[in-house]
Amino acid sequence: MNKQEVILSENLESSVKRAIGRCAHDKIFILTDKHTHLLCMPQLIGIPELHTAIEICIEADDISKTLDTLAHVWQVLSDKGATRHSLLINLGGGMVTDLGGFAAATFKRGLNYINIPTTLLAMVDASVGGKTGINFNGLKNEVGVFAPADSVLIDTNFLRTLDSYNFFSGYAEMLKHGLISTDEHWNELLAFNTEQIDYSYLKSLVGHSVHIKEDIVLQDPLEHGIRKALNLGHTVGHAFESLALAEKRPVLHGYAVAWGIVCELYLSTMNVGFPKEKLRKTVSFVKENYGTFYIDCDKYDTLYDFMQHDKKNVGDTINFTLLEDIGKIVINQTANKDNIFEMLDFYRECMGL
Ligand code: GLY
Repeated sequence: MNKQEVILSENLESSVKRAIGRCAHDKIFILTDKHTHLLCMPQLIGIPELHTAIEICIEADDISKTLDTLAHVWQVLSDKGATRHSLLINLGGGMVTDLGGFAAATFKRGLNYINIPTTLLAMVDASVGGKTGINFNGLKNEVGVFAPADSVLIDTNFLRTLDSYNFFSGYAEMLKHGLISTDEHWNELLAFNTEQIDYSYLKSLVGHSVHIKEDIVLQDPLEHGIRKALNLGHTVGHAFESLALAEKRPVLHGYAVAWGIVCELYLSTMNVGFPKEKLRKTVSFVKENYGTFYIDCDKYDTLYDFMQHDKKNVGDTINFTLLEDIGKIVINQTANKDNIFEMLDFYRECMGL
């Protein structure tokens, strides 16, 4: 897999020019959703290199990350004469960068693409590292390929208009990066003033967070080993997310990850000795900032079934990434049904359910 260039932008126009300059192309397409069409596209249309670009606008939100939407993008690319030498720019959150990346990777067997993430979640996670895909059969990111963007252009000015839900959704992935890296970074994330955001400090935290992810992806781009560290919180998180979707009470990805982190740190404490005090501090941060996803014990079997469908599993065993301590990652851990139900009991108890 090629190394992608991640640009922490000082100036959007010059970063866009630089990213486009890296890719010889005949036509440029820009994928937006209904939100980024209104809020972010105006910041790109003045850039001379994009004057003739063709916009493809899709519905917003994870609910649109479907085969039908993907087919629509392929259809427009085809109708408007995209070739293998065309360039696709994905302007949006994780839904746009995941689906657009998949469209680019598959149309005519693959064209170059650039991600311009506009949400915190997409900046620190979704747009970096080459995972692309769509939801299928009620399961998150069930179909997709590894195909890195040529460039990822991160302009944290987009965060100034981000609502608080989307801010915290992305912040959960940053917290995960803190947990898998160093005590120092984890502590600065817990101490960050999320009520009065210092955007220049946030930019440096975002840069650090992206760097943690890039470093891991470089070591293991196709997730055979250490990249599984990035799955911390996601085995349970994806199950919460799938349950939420099935029950038509969808939650933002990062919220599900935050609740998943609570569960998987508990497993870490029970199975591999993660320090109880650090579990307590993380749980209280999550409880305070993410509230609670309501479940009662009659949902345990459904959640367990979702975990059994997780694409990280090998055979019938459910695969977890756990921590012996902050930065001490242990991949390929398993847990049986009793452990998992006990973990869900802990979640309900500590969340006050
Ligand atoms: N979101 C986890 C990864 O990119 O591997």
